[in-house]
Amino acid sequence: MLRFQVGRLASCSSRAFSTTSKANAKVALLGASGGIGQPMGLLLKQSPLVTELALYDIVNTPGVAADLSHINTRAEVTGFQGSEQLALALAGAQVVAIPAGLPRKPGMTRDDLFNTNASIVKQLTEEAAKVCPDAMICIISNPVNSTVPITSEVFKKAGVYNPRKIFGVTTLDIVRANTFVAKLKGLNVDDVNVPVICGHSGVTIIPLLSQTTPSVSFSQDDIEKLTQRIQNAGTEVVDAKAGTGSATLSMAYAGARFVYSLLEAMKGKDVVECAYVKSDVADSPYFATPIRLGPNGIEENLGTGKLSDYEQQKLQEAMTELQANIAKGENFMKS
Ligand code: 2OP
Repeated sequence: MLRFQVGRLASCSSRAFSTTSKANAKVALLGASGGIGQPMGLLLKQSPLVTELALYDIVNTPGVAADLSHINTRAEVTGFQGSEQLALALAGAQVVAIPAGLPRKPGMTRDDLFNTNASIVKQLTEEAAKVCPDAMICIISNPVNSTVPITSEVFKKAGVYNPRKIFGVTTLDIVRANTFVAKLKGLNVDDVNVPVICGHSGVTIIPLLSQTTPSVSFSQDDIEKLTQRIQNAGTEVVDAKAGTGSATLSMAYAGARFVYSLLEAMKGKDVVECAYVKSDVADSPYFATPIRLGPNGIEENLGTGKLSDYEQQKLQEAMTELQANIAKGENFMKS
């Protein structure tokens, strides 16, 4: 039987983990009929760690749910359509993954999606704060730099805020960095891990090539080209798709990997993933770093480690934009 290969997923993680253990976990996927939602639902349905997979969207959920439900894997699939069914989808969920919202078109930045996606994330997380306040919340909807602060404000307003359980999923940046570095250096991609810090858009995506494992030496030209490619990789896909959307398949892979890691950690495994979270490691209230995950979410923020001069400079350049993205999310919740 084809199983999603969890063992290959530990990229920010220093320890490999396996598929052998079982957990009782309900995962709610909000935006399940969309470009990311459908392949992500497929990957989650293949996981032995998921016992119930609740699919929610405003359209087409019954069809997607019927389709996925025929796959002979453990997860029980349920489909919910329309806002009046959102609470049912969320009831009892331990993990809520949110890829809902509009994708980018050529020429757009992630921030250009703010006006539409901010309201969608607000509405979905308001219901999650009511129905499953203890769940791990994984935000994929862009602009992640702003939608994570929005989610935090929603949970604060509801009086159920736990910063250890709200994550902006930046895993795709690590996935891309690993792929590009392995290719350039002729390495086995399974062995490569490049931590990526700061945020999830343009200049705020900062790959720490100096901390690549296995240790690799790069010329300054390599560093600059790789950094630029990793920062623009989402746009590379948007342009290649020529108006039909943004990264869906690789994003679904990355989102599923992050949920898998959370589920493993909830069962007590030592798992490290980079994520964009409430943080005090930089001059910004939210910041992506490697995070040690545990049963209650963030176990330990592992910080940035030692940065090269180039990475330090990139970080300084990114701060103004990151802080503006965060303020935009927070101000949206105030208005
Ligand atoms: C990306 O990086 C969709 O934000 C996603 O391509």
